[in-house]
Amino acid sequence: KESKLWGGRFEEKVNELVERFTESISFEAEELWMHDIRGSKAHANMLAAQGLMTEGDRDKIIEGLGVIKKKIESGKFVWRKDREDVHMNIEAALTDMIGEPAKKLHTARSRNDQVVTDLRLWCRDAVDRILTRIKQLQVQLVKLALRNDGLIIPGYTHLQRAQPVLLQHLLLSYVEQLERDAGRLTNCKERLNFSPLGACALAGTGLPIDRFMTSQELGFTAPLRNSIDAVSDRDFILELLAANSITAVHLSRLGEEWVLWASEEFGFAIPSDSVSTGSSIMPQKKNPDPMELVRGKSARVVGDLMSLLILCKGLPSAYNRDLQEDKEPLFDSVKTITQMLEVTSVFAANITFNHERIHTSLPAGYLDATTLADYLVKKGMPFRTSHEVVGRAVALCVAKKCQLSDLTLDDLCGINSIFEKDVYDFLGVDNAVNKFTSYGSTGSAEVQKQLQFWCSKLEIT
Ligand code: ARG
Repeated sequence: KESKLWGGRFEEKVNELVERFTESISFEAEELWMHDIRGSKAHANMLAAQGLMTEGDRDKIIEGLGVIKKKIESGKFVWRKDREDVHMNIEAALTDMIGEPAKKLHTARSRNDQVVTDLRLWCRDAVDRILTRIKQLQVQLVKLALRNDGLIIPGYTHLQRAQPVLLQHLLLSYVEQLERDAGRLTNCKERLNFSPLGACALAGTGLPIDRFMTSQELGFTAPLRNSIDAVSDRDFILELLAANSITAVHLSRLGEEWVLWASEEFGFAIPSDSVSTGSSIMPQKKNPDPMELVRGKSARVVGDLMSLLILCKGLPSAYNRDLQEDKEPLFDSVKTITQMLEVTSVFAANITFNHERIHTSLPAGYLDATTLADYLVKKGMPFRTSHEVVGRAVALCVAKKCQLSDLTLDDLCGINSIFEKDVYDFLGVDNAVNKFTSYGSTGSAEVQKQLQFWCSKLEIT
């Protein structure tokens, strides 16, 4: 068995159980190798520019790393658990391949700054991938809204019928939430894009490195100012996982709503067969599983954030091996949120609304009651009084088993003489929905403005 890259002071071999327990290669290689090679190339370029290695050695290192990259890409590279992690696997393979020059690569570098450089690069790419998926989902939601122009649905509070709203208005509310999710990620990316490379183990180095050079080559805004901070903190991952958690909770609520809509009781939405699954025992079943799993997987994403918060809370400054446990929650959170966004997009593209069923259900629940109260306010009545008057009108409807629009003018005037014939312009959901005219409200004029805004922002033609 070969001796470890750090084996100088060790007399005994590492216990095999310990070796298996401490390795991270099995869960990080695929994710981190590309960023690790990128970081090493930048580091080698800098070392040569600073006279810490010859240009010839630098060239051999860069070339060797290129060969390793190709080997990994073609699946021929063998990842070894006895070489612990991605950093040591690549460095040891480079040494196997080019010999002496490879031994200069780790000059003025520690795995502590190396790993967190890799992670920041990885997170930067991950944010871009998630942002693309968020936009795709926004586009699908806006398209779904465009396909359902003018459809009025009952709006609910407490899951009780409240006021009539345009379906488009509700769909655009999800689009707004996703926009803030994207904003949080963009913000997080700005803050994470600083270079830890050259912080070394924790204290920096006495060798004449140029941290600004590596920072620039790797596309970072600047080097982190404090070397201890650079290797200590994983707050950038926490921020990303927190942003993902909020997105996941948004998607979970959306999923819950669509699962309800697909039920027999609601019957508002019909997911196509392509996004539904069946039952192994009940032949009639068609279940909205993808959205149930979106709701379910939000638990993982929140759990990933919790794992990392708890991981970090007791750690003293600088690097502690516990930090190796940051990777699985990070990778899992990003993978899961990406899938959740993708599946929700596909679902949105494959759902239709049962206009007829929704329409026939609209008369229930006195959705026009608030609009009627506003009618009385327009006639000069104080709102608290109009609330009371309409409440009595609703009670009358309950007794007569009818809707507000079925009450005669005599019925209404029996409650209060203020009612006139024009009251019927305010009753019924079609009238009621268009009485909403305030900025951001559900009336069709306001919703059209929102639609135009999103179509132009998302470049939907
Ligand atoms: N595999 C380690 C991690 O992911 C890399 C850093 C190890 N540093 C050390 N001093 N043991 O955190």
